[in-house]
Amino acid sequence: MSYFSDVERDLVVAARTELAHGVVALDLVAHNGRDLPAWEPGSHVDLIFSDARTPAAERVERQYSLCGDAADRSTWRVAVLREDEGRGGSVRVHDEVQVGKRLRVRGPRNHFSCEIVPGKTHRFVAGGIGITPILGMVRAAAHAGVDWTLDYAGRSLSTMAFVDELRALDAGQGRVRLYPADAGARLDVAGVVDAAGEGDLVYACGPARLIAALEEGFADAGRTEALRVERFEAIEYGEPVWPDPFEVELALSGDVVTVQPGQSVLEAIEEQSPATMVLSSCRRGTCGTCEVPVLEGQIEHRDSVLTPLEREQSASMMVCVSRAACARIVIDA
Ligand code: FES
Repeated sequence: MSYFSDVERDLVVAARTELAHGVVALDLVAHNGRDLPAWEPGSHVDLIFSDARTPAAERVERQYSLCGDAADRSTWRVAVLREDEGRGGSVRVHDEVQVGKRLRVRGPRNHFSCEIVPGKTHRFVAGGIGITPILGMVRAAAHAGVDWTLDYAGRSLSTMAFVDELRALDAGQGRVRLYPADAGARLDVAGVVDAAGEGDLVYACGPARLIAALEEGFADAGRTEALRVERFEAIEYGEPVWPDPFEVELALSGDVVTVQPGQSVLEAIEEQSPATMVLSSCRRGTCGTCEVPVLEGQIEHRDSVLTPLEREQSASMMVCVSRAACARIVIDA
């Protein structure tokens, strides 16, 4: 199950903690000390760095998984890896966000929810900062007393966040396997696939190469449904299957917009039906903010959020990247 909150609120940075080399945690609280909305493992929030007058297409927003204690309603915690070669959001957090700063935050939102099922084995796989959504799942599994394992790879132990907490959750039972690359340890994807028994649930987050290898391994094993993934990089797709302009009818207003090749559905709506409200954040198919129900027509899903089953059902689409696979579609916007 996924859930959404599009509410934006100003939160205050109550604490800033170096979790590992290059990884800083921000603890965010309401300025009046009120409780924040509840969240579940796998949820993320958008940190909004632009002011409200900035046009949507130019706003700087970044998504970060909530990784604190879900039972503590006073605080949301995010952990941010500094990526000097990234798009600038993480550098901004590391260089400019200190204790006391106010941050505009939207969410939480969850496209990566985790089902803890008594009697099943829950297998978690994380690469680098991909541990952030996985940590809450590991905590939930450990506290529920269900069977679980974690395979966690990183460049070196000093860059791998939450290692001490994970070892404490493991309590010496050998459930946590760490793979620091500088020590020559390598996460064996084939081993993860082989170890996953019938009915096991596998949750993975990490770099594109790791996720692709897991997807291929589980697909080859005929077990696609066992794997749930979250990506923080956009999938690269080839040319659209429908290369021509297409029409999008907006059911709420009755407006019909024409989407040109090279233009997104979102851009066409913003240009041709400015009164239509479609929220967006990442604008590259990874966050799920722009998800809109589909009422009619075939969709070519080009996002990095929907599961294979959700793509097949095609009940919704991410209008920042996904396109029509026919001449006209109708969406509930
Ligand atoms: S705005 Fe993030 S998926 Fe479309």
